[in-house]
Amino acid sequence: MILRLNRSSFGDAANKGNALSKEDAEALFYGWVLNPKLQLHMKQVGYLMKCWAAEKEMLDEIDQWRWELAGLLHDADWDQWPELHCKKIIEELEARNVDPEIMHAIASHGPAHFGVEPETKMDKMLYAFDELSGLVHAYSLMRPNGYDAMDVKGVKKRLKEKSFAANVSREDINDACSRAGIALDELIAFIIARQPVVQ
Ligand SMILES: [Fe+2]
Ligand SMILES: [Fe+2]
Repeated sequence: MILRLNRSSFGDAANKGNALSKEDAEALFYGWVLNPKLQLHMKQVGYLMKCWAAEKEMLDEIDQWRWELAGLLHDADWDQWPELHCKKIIEELEARNVDPEIMHAIASHGPAHFGVEPETKMDKMLYAFDELSGLVHAYSLMRPNGYDAMDVKGVKKRLKEKSFAANVSREDINDACSRAGIALDELIAFIIARQPVVQ
């Protein structure tokens, strides 16, 4: 499957600061994504992006929503149009005059697949949260108390076990941490502490 986007510029700079309303984002989300597991993954990544924007980047609520939106919609086309993954959602957001930064973050959430390098902090954090939050969530599902009392050591053990959540790319996780300049332990601890099980 060739998913390369073959471009690195998205949207129109004149739309800087534009996001979707919560209602429009929700309609798009539930209209396109029917698989509940994928919905949960996207909500978790959106939630972690919002938490990071608020707590680490000290951004205001408007910018927090822009970060959340990038996370919430990053896999929006994966469920129904996997062969158009990334391309379709980006074109949709371009048509809706969304801030180019949001499309760029979505476009660079898998540089090895889409051929777009993460550049901004938003890009890098989306890339960093994507695979790692999936692995942490898979781990929570096999623990009797989910995220409660989970520790970094346990997650790192699962990371080393290649057969555990085998579809989660360890390479991407390490690459994302080094690009973001964040220690793996810190990122794992951040995810555990937020217990991103949002409905
Ligand atoms: Fe994806
Ligand atoms: Fe994802």
